[in-house]
Amino acid sequence: GLPEFVKIVEVGPRDGLQNEKVIVPTDIKIEFINRLSQTGLSVIEVTSFVSSRWVPQMADHTEVMKGIRQYPGVRYPVLTPNLQGFQRAVAAGATEISVFGAASESFSKKNINCSIEESMGKFEEVVKSARHMNIPARGYVSCALGCPYEGSITPQKVTEVSKRLYGMGCYEISLGDTIGVGTPGSMKRMLESVMKEIPPGALAVHCHDTYGQALANILTALQMGINVVDSAVSGLGGCPYAKGASGNVATEDLIYMLHGLGLNTGVNLHKVMEAGDFICKAVNKTTNSKVAQASFNA
Ligand code: HMG
Ligand code: MG
Repeated sequence: GLPEFVKIVEVGPRDGLQNEKVIVPTDIKIEFINRLSQTGLSVIEVTSFVSSRWVPQMADHTEVMKGIRQYPGVRYPVLTPNLQGFQRAVAAGATEISVFGAASESFSKKNINCSIEESMGKFEEVVKSARHMNIPARGYVSCALGCPYEGSITPQKVTEVSKRLYGMGCYEISLGDTIGVGTPGSMKRMLESVMKEIPPGALAVHCHDTYGQALANILTALQMGINVVDSAVSGLGGCPYAKGASGNVATEDLIYMLHGLGLNTGVNLHKVMEAGDFICKAVNKTTNSKVAQASFNA
Protein backbone atom coordinates (compact mmCIF):
# COMPACT_ATOMS: atom_id res chain seq x y z
CA GLY A 1 0.00 0.00 0.00
CA LEU A 2 0.92 3.65 -0.22
CA PRO A 3 2.48 5.57 2.68
CA GLU A 4 0.15 7.93 4.58
CA PHE A 5 2.64 10.77 4.71
CA VAL A 6 5.15 11.74 2.05
CA LYS A 7 8.08 14.00 2.89
CA ILE A 8 8.95 16.35 0.05
CA VAL A 9 12.55 17.53 -0.22
CA GLU A 10 12.43 20.82 -2.11
CA VAL A 11 15.58 21.17 -4.21
CA GLY A 12 14.54 24.25 -6.20
CA PRO A 13 17.01 26.75 -4.72
CA ARG A 14 19.89 24.32 -5.40
CA ASP A 15 19.16 21.91 -8.27
CA GLY A 16 16.59 24.33 -9.66
CA LEU A 17 18.95 27.25 -9.95
CA GLN A 18 22.41 25.67 -10.35
CA ASN A 19 22.04 25.36 -14.12
CA GLU A 20 20.63 28.85 -14.75
CA LYS A 21 23.01 30.73 -17.01
CA VAL A 22 22.16 34.21 -15.71
CA ILE A 23 23.30 34.67 -12.12
CA VAL A 24 20.26 35.11 -9.90
CA PRO A 25 20.79 37.93 -7.38
CA THR A 26 21.45 36.68 -3.85
CA ASP A 27 18.54 38.63 -2.37
CA ILE A 28 16.15 36.96 -4.82
CA LYS A 29 17.42 33.52 -3.76
CA ILE A 30 16.97 34.46 -0.11
CA GLU A 31 13.45 35.75 -0.71
CA PHE A 32 12.64 32.58 -2.68
CA ILE A 33 13.82 30.33 0.16
CA ASN A 34 11.99 32.42 2.78
CA ARG A 35 8.78 32.07 0.77
CA LEU A 36 9.28 28.30 0.46
CA SER A 37 9.76 28.16 4.23
CA GLN A 38 6.20 29.39 4.68
CA THR A 39 4.54 26.70 2.54
CA GLY A 40 4.71 23.81 4.99
CA LEU A 41 7.76 22.21 3.34
CA SER A 42 9.98 20.58 5.98
CA VAL A 43 13.19 20.28 3.95
CA ILE A 44 14.58 22.92 1.59
CA GLU A 45 17.96 22.34 -0.06
CA VAL A 46 19.51 25.76 -0.03
CA THR A 47 22.77 25.83 -2.00
CA SER A 48 26.03 23.99 -2.76
CA PHE A 49 29.45 24.51 -1.25
CA VAL A 50 31.16 23.63 -4.51
CA SER A 51 33.75 25.43 -6.59
CA SER A 52 32.46 28.68 -8.08
CA ARG A 53 34.64 27.94 -11.11
CA TRP A 54 32.58 24.79 -11.68
CA VAL A 55 29.15 26.11 -10.74
CA PRO A 56 29.16 29.94 -10.81
CA GLN A 57 25.47 30.15 -9.83
CA MET A 58 26.26 28.72 -6.38
CA ALA A 59 29.17 31.11 -5.68
CA ASP A 60 27.05 33.05 -3.15
CA HIS A 61 26.48 29.95 -0.99
CA THR A 62 27.71 31.60 2.20
CA GLU A 63 25.63 34.76 1.73
CA VAL A 64 22.52 32.72 0.94
CA MET A 65 23.00 30.40 3.91
CA LYS A 66 23.59 33.33 6.25
CA GLY A 67 20.85 35.46 4.72
CA ILE A 68 17.86 33.15 4.93
CA ARG A 69 15.47 33.11 7.84
CA GLN A 70 15.52 29.64 9.37
CA TYR A 71 11.96 28.75 10.31
CA PRO A 72 11.28 26.31 13.12
CA GLY A 73 10.46 22.84 11.85
CA VAL A 74 12.25 23.39 8.54
CA ARG A 75 15.64 21.87 7.72
CA TYR A 76 18.04 23.52 5.30
CA PRO A 77 20.58 21.03 3.88
CA VAL A 78 23.40 22.03 1.52
CA LEU A 79 25.63 20.06 -0.85
CA THR A 80 29.21 19.44 0.27
CA PRO A 81 31.45 17.38 -2.06
CA ASN A 82 34.52 17.39 0.16
CA LEU A 83 35.97 18.54 3.48
CA GLN A 84 36.66 22.03 2.17
CA GLY A 85 33.01 22.44 1.20
CA PHE A 86 31.89 20.94 4.49
CA GLN A 87 34.00 23.34 6.54
CA ARG A 88 32.69 26.33 4.61
CA ALA A 89 29.13 25.10 5.00
CA VAL A 90 29.51 24.75 8.75
CA ALA A 91 31.11 28.20 8.97
CA ALA A 92 28.08 29.59 7.13
CA GLY A 93 25.73 27.98 9.64
CA ALA A 94 24.64 24.78 7.86
CA THR A 95 23.25 22.14 10.19
CA GLU A 96 22.56 19.45 7.61
CA ILE A 97 24.58 18.39 4.57
CA SER A 98 24.53 16.09 1.55
CA VAL A 99 27.33 14.32 -0.24
CA PHE A 100 26.70 13.46 -3.86
CA GLY A 101 28.11 10.42 -5.58
CA ALA A 102 27.25 8.61 -8.76
CA ALA A 103 26.65 5.09 -10.01
CA SER A 104 28.55 5.99 -13.20
CA GLU A 105 32.32 6.29 -13.34
CA SER A 106 32.24 8.79 -16.23
CA PHE A 107 29.65 10.99 -14.56
CA SER A 108 31.63 11.02 -11.32
CA LYS A 109 34.69 12.23 -13.25
CA LYS A 110 32.78 14.96 -15.09
CA ASN A 111 30.76 16.13 -12.11
CA ILE A 112 33.20 16.06 -9.22
CA ASN A 113 36.50 15.36 -10.97
CA CYS A 114 37.30 12.05 -9.33
CA SER A 115 36.51 8.35 -9.59
CA ILE A 116 33.73 6.72 -7.59
CA GLU A 117 36.33 5.11 -5.33
CA GLU A 118 38.10 8.44 -4.71
CA SER A 119 34.76 10.13 -4.06
CA MET A 120 33.91 7.58 -1.38
CA GLY A 121 37.11 8.51 0.47
CA LYS A 122 36.17 12.20 0.39
CA PHE A 123 32.57 11.50 1.45
CA GLU A 124 33.78 9.33 4.31
CA GLU A 125 35.79 12.27 5.67
CA VAL A 126 32.81 14.59 5.33
CA VAL A 127 30.29 12.22 6.90
CA LYS A 128 32.68 11.41 9.74
CA SER A 129 33.23 15.10 10.49
CA ALA A 130 29.50 15.69 10.26
CA ARG A 131 28.79 12.89 12.73
CA HIS A 132 31.21 14.42 15.25
CA MET A 133 29.17 17.62 15.06
CA ASN A 134 25.79 15.89 15.11
CA ILE A 135 25.12 17.10 11.59
CA PRO A 136 22.91 14.70 9.63
CA ALA A 137 24.33 13.67 6.25
CA ARG A 138 22.32 12.61 3.23
CA GLY A 139 23.82 10.77 0.27
CA TYR A 140 22.88 11.17 -3.38
CA VAL A 141 23.45 8.55 -6.04
CA SER A 142 23.30 10.13 -9.48
CA CYS A 143 22.70 8.22 -12.72
CA ALA A 144 20.61 5.66 -10.87
CA LEU A 145 18.52 5.04 -13.99
CA GLY A 146 21.00 6.01 -16.69
CA CYS A 147 24.06 8.07 -17.47
CA PRO A 148 24.55 10.81 -20.08
CA TYR A 149 27.98 9.33 -20.93
CA GLU A 150 27.62 5.58 -20.37
CA GLY A 151 23.96 4.96 -21.14
CA SER A 152 22.40 2.26 -19.03
CA ILE A 153 23.59 1.63 -15.49
CA THR A 154 23.02 -1.68 -13.74
CA PRO A 155 20.86 -1.89 -10.59
CA GLN A 156 23.84 -3.74 -9.04
CA LYS A 157 26.09 -0.69 -9.44
CA VAL A 158 23.45 1.63 -7.95
CA THR A 159 23.04 -0.79 -5.05
CA GLU A 160 26.79 -1.00 -4.46
CA VAL A 161 27.24 2.79 -4.29
CA SER A 162 24.09 3.26 -2.19
CA LYS A 163 25.33 0.64 0.25
CA ARG A 164 28.67 2.42 0.62
CA LEU A 165 26.97 5.73 1.41
CA TYR A 166 24.50 4.14 3.81
CA GLY A 167 27.28 2.18 5.46
CA MET A 168 29.37 5.27 6.11
CA GLY A 169 26.44 6.88 7.95
CA CYS A 170 24.23 8.71 5.49
CA TYR A 171 20.76 8.59 7.06
CA GLU A 172 19.00 8.79 3.71
CA ILE A 173 20.02 7.82 0.19
CA SER A 174 18.47 9.83 -2.63
CA LEU A 175 18.42 7.87 -5.87
CA GLY A 176 18.77 10.33 -8.72
CA ASP A 177 17.45 9.89 -12.23
CA THR A 178 19.80 12.69 -13.24
CA ILE A 179 18.81 12.76 -16.90
CA GLY A 180 15.20 11.66 -16.53
CA VAL A 181 15.43 8.59 -18.74
CA GLY A 182 13.90 6.09 -16.31
CA THR A 183 10.52 4.43 -16.63
CA PRO A 184 8.35 2.67 -14.03
CA GLY A 185 9.98 -0.53 -15.31
CA SER A 186 13.58 0.53 -14.73
CA MET A 187 12.64 2.26 -11.46
CA LYS A 188 11.09 -0.96 -10.17
CA ARG A 189 14.10 -3.09 -11.15
CA MET A 190 16.55 -0.62 -9.61
CA LEU A 191 14.59 -0.31 -6.35
CA GLU A 192 14.14 -4.07 -6.02
CA SER A 193 17.90 -4.38 -6.04
CA VAL A 194 18.67 -1.44 -3.71
CA MET A 195 15.96 -2.47 -1.23
CA LYS A 196 17.71 -5.79 -0.68
CA GLU A 197 20.44 -3.80 1.10
CA ILE A 198 18.76 -0.63 2.38
CA PRO A 199 15.37 -0.32 4.10
CA PRO A 200 12.81 1.71 2.12
CA GLY A 201 12.52 4.13 5.05
CA ALA A 202 16.09 5.28 4.34
CA LEU A 203 15.54 5.85 0.61
CA ALA A 204 14.33 8.79 -1.46
CA VAL A 205 13.81 9.26 -5.17
CA HIS A 206 15.00 12.28 -7.14
CA CYS A 207 13.44 12.36 -10.59
CA HIS A 208 14.18 14.67 -13.47
CA ASP A 209 11.37 14.81 -16.01
CA THR A 210 13.23 14.84 -19.32
CA TYR A 211 11.18 12.01 -20.83
CA GLY A 212 7.96 12.87 -19.02
CA GLN A 213 8.15 9.82 -16.77
CA ALA A 214 8.86 11.43 -13.41
CA LEU A 215 5.39 11.19 -11.78
CA ALA A 216 4.92 7.63 -12.99
CA ASN A 217 8.34 6.72 -11.64
CA ILE A 218 7.58 8.38 -8.30
CA LEU A 219 4.26 6.56 -8.00
CA THR A 220 6.11 3.30 -8.61
CA ALA A 221 8.55 4.14 -5.81
CA LEU A 222 5.70 5.03 -3.42
CA GLN A 223 4.00 1.73 -4.18
CA MET A 224 7.25 0.00 -3.24
CA GLY A 225 7.31 1.69 0.19
CA ILE A 226 9.36 4.83 -0.37
CA ASN A 227 7.98 7.95 1.28
CA VAL A 228 10.55 10.67 0.58
CA VAL A 229 10.52 12.45 -2.77
CA ASP A 230 12.74 15.25 -4.09
CA SER A 231 11.23 17.91 -6.36
CA ALA A 232 11.77 21.49 -7.48
CA VAL A 233 9.20 24.27 -7.59
CA SER A 234 8.12 25.08 -11.17
CA GLY A 235 10.07 22.08 -12.43
CA LEU A 236 13.27 24.09 -12.46
CA GLY A 237 16.53 22.22 -12.53
CA GLY A 238 19.23 20.35 -14.31
CA CYS A 239 22.80 19.43 -13.81
CA PRO A 240 25.53 21.41 -15.58
CA TYR A 241 27.48 18.16 -16.06
CA ALA A 242 24.55 16.22 -17.57
CA LYS A 243 23.93 17.72 -20.99
CA GLY A 244 20.34 17.54 -22.18
CA ALA A 245 18.98 16.87 -18.72
CA SER A 246 15.90 18.93 -18.03
CA GLY A 247 14.20 20.02 -14.84
CA ASN A 248 13.22 18.11 -11.75
CA VAL A 249 9.67 16.96 -11.31
CA ALA A 250 7.67 20.06 -10.36
CA THR A 251 6.78 20.27 -6.67
CA GLU A 252 3.33 21.59 -7.61
CA ASP A 253 2.62 18.54 -9.81
CA LEU A 254 3.96 16.16 -7.17
CA ILE A 255 1.74 17.70 -4.46
CA TYR A 256 -1.28 17.59 -6.75
CA MET A 257 -0.75 13.89 -7.36
CA LEU A 258 -0.05 13.05 -3.70
CA HIS A 259 -3.05 14.96 -2.39
CA GLY A 260 -5.16 13.37 -5.12
CA LEU A 261 -4.08 9.99 -3.79
CA GLY A 262 -5.26 11.09 -0.35
CA LEU A 263 -1.72 11.24 1.01
CA ASN A 264 -0.62 13.91 3.45
CA THR A 265 2.37 16.16 2.73
CA GLY A 266 1.85 19.04 5.13
CA VAL A 267 2.46 21.40 2.21
CA ASN A 268 0.10 24.09 0.93
CA LEU A 269 -0.13 23.80 -2.85
CA HIS A 270 -1.35 27.34 -3.35
CA LYS A 271 1.55 28.82 -1.41
CA VAL A 272 4.03 26.66 -3.34
CA MET A 273 2.54 27.94 -6.60
CA GLU A 274 3.03 31.51 -5.38
CA ALA A 275 6.68 30.79 -4.56
CA GLY A 276 7.02 29.23 -8.02
CA ASP A 277 5.47 32.27 -9.65
CA PHE A 278 7.90 34.50 -7.74
CA ILE A 279 11.03 32.65 -8.89
CA CYS A 280 9.82 32.23 -12.49
CA LYS A 281 9.22 35.95 -12.79
CA ALA A 282 12.58 36.67 -11.18
CA VAL A 283 14.49 34.44 -13.62
CA ASN A 284 12.23 35.34 -16.54
CA LYS A 285 10.98 31.83 -17.23
CA THR A 286 7.62 30.23 -17.73
CA THR A 287 6.81 27.48 -15.27
CA ASN A 288 7.34 23.84 -16.21
CA SER A 289 4.63 22.82 -13.77
CA LYS A 290 1.50 21.59 -15.56
CA VAL A 291 -0.52 22.24 -12.41
CA ALA A 292 0.69 25.83 -12.15
CA GLN A 293 0.00 26.39 -15.87
CA ALA A 294 -3.50 24.99 -15.55
CA SER A 295 -4.25 26.97 -12.40
CA PHE A 296 -3.02 30.29 -13.71
CA ASN A 297 -5.03 29.80 -16.92
CA ALA A 298 -8.21 28.88 -15.03
P1 HMG B 1 38.67 19.84 -8.07
O1 HMG B 1 39.16 20.86 -9.04
O2 HMG B 1 38.92 18.41 -8.36
O3 HMG B 1 39.17 20.17 -6.58
O4 HMG B 1 37.11 20.10 -7.89
P2 HMG B 1 40.61 20.10 -5.95
O5 HMG B 1 40.42 19.49 -4.60
O6 HMG B 1 41.58 19.50 -6.90
O7 HMG B 1 40.96 21.67 -5.78
C1 HMG B 1 41.11 22.52 -6.89
C2 HMG B 1 40.64 23.92 -6.53
O8 HMG B 1 39.25 23.88 -6.19
C3 HMG B 1 41.37 24.50 -5.32
O9 HMG B 1 41.42 25.91 -5.51
C4 HMG B 1 40.42 24.23 -4.19
O10 HMG B 1 40.54 25.14 -3.14
C5 HMG B 1 39.08 24.38 -4.87
P3 HMG B 1 42.75 26.61 -6.07
O11 HMG B 1 43.81 26.24 -5.10
O12 HMG B 1 43.00 26.04 -7.45
O13 HMG B 1 42.37 28.06 -6.09
N1 HMG B 1 38.01 23.62 -4.18
C6 HMG B 1 36.85 24.17 -3.77
N2 HMG B 1 36.36 25.41 -3.84
C7 HMG B 1 35.16 25.63 -3.30
N3 HMG B 1 34.40 24.66 -2.72
C8 HMG B 1 34.86 23.42 -2.62
C9 HMG B 1 36.15 23.12 -3.15
N4 HMG B 1 36.88 22.00 -3.23
C10 HMG B 1 38.01 22.31 -3.86
N5 HMG B 1 34.12 22.48 -2.02
C11 HMG B 1 34.95 19.88 -6.90
C12 HMG B 1 36.30 19.24 -7.10
C13 HMG B 1 34.02 18.84 -6.31
C14 HMG B 1 35.09 21.05 -5.95
C15 HMG B 1 34.43 20.37 -8.27
O14 HMG B 1 34.46 19.32 -9.17
C16 HMG B 1 33.04 20.94 -8.22
O15 HMG B 1 32.80 21.97 -7.62
N6 HMG B 1 32.09 20.31 -8.93
C17 HMG B 1 30.72 20.78 -9.03
C18 HMG B 1 29.80 19.67 -8.74
C19 HMG B 1 28.36 20.13 -8.73
O16 HMG B 1 27.99 21.04 -8.01
N7 HMG B 1 27.53 19.49 -9.58
C20 HMG B 1 26.12 19.73 -9.59
C21 HMG B 1 25.45 19.11 -8.38
S1 HMG B 1 25.24 17.33 -8.50
C22 HMG B 1 23.68 17.15 -9.23
O17 HMG B 1 23.13 18.11 -9.71
C23 HMG B 1 22.99 15.81 -9.17
C24 HMG B 1 21.92 15.74 -8.09
O18 HMG B 1 20.93 16.73 -8.28
C25 HMG B 1 21.24 14.36 -8.11
C26 HMG B 1 20.79 13.95 -9.50
O19 HMG B 1 20.04 14.70 -10.15
O20 HMG B 1 21.19 12.85 -9.87
C27 HMG B 1 22.53 15.93 -6.69
MG1 MG C 1 19.26 16.62 -9.70
